[in-house]
Amino acid sequence: MSDKKLTSGDSSYPEPQFDSGPVTDIVSAKASRRQFIKGVIASGVVASSAGLMYGCAQEEVASTGGVERLLRLTINGQTRNVDVLPNETLAMTLRYKLNLTGTKLGCDRGECGACTVLIDDVSTYSCSTLTHTVRDRSITTIEGLEAADGTLHPVQQAMIDELGPQCGFCTPGQIMSAVALLRANPNPTRDEARLALSGNLCRCGAYDHYLNSVMRAAEMA
Ligand code: FES
Ligand code: FES
Repeated sequence: MSDKKLTSGDSSYPEPQFDSGPVTDIVSAKASRRQFIKGVIASGVVASSAGLMYGCAQEEVASTGGVERLLRLTINGQTRNVDVLPNETLAMTLRYKLNLTGTKLGCDRGECGACTVLIDDVSTYSCSTLTHTVRDRSITTIEGLEAADGTLHPVQQAMIDELGPQCGFCTPGQIMSAVALLRANPNPTRDEARLALSGNLCRCGAYDHYLNSVMRAAEMA
């Protein structure tokens, strides 16, 4: 075999042989793939447009009364008008539409009790309650407990006196559950109080402090 280095200008350099058939196939395959991608993008645009059109249609339905979005809610004794999505939870409405951020969101799935509010005096997880289902009910949040002159509710005061909270994140929910208990049962036993607060988790483990607070509030009342 010759050691001579072959270059493309060398007459002995083998000219590349192209088979126009496969090349044409490749080109057409690329072209068709490009067309396919264009088609996918185009169909995506069509789908988005359809979604937009559907959204507009939904808005139209809403504005014509098919979906009533403007609700009148009774919160802390006041009437509040608020635009509520059909799938919106009460916790979201309270915190992000009405700025009542005393209601906390912990798990957002009915496990921790941080979002507890009163609905017709019954303690309820607001993260698991659709706002549309409470339009005719009386809602009380932690902001609605203190008196007009700023006097704290007995449960709030007892929480301070007993040094109930540690980090405080679960405290609004604990208080709301305790208030619901004392409205239904002004003289609970400690076990009844423990049961009433059993749906409220405290990651700081301040359970005994909270129970002491509930019992103190019951005595004060
Ligand atoms: Fe509602 Fe945890 S945030 S139960
Ligand atoms: Fe911290 Fe209860 S005081 S989670």
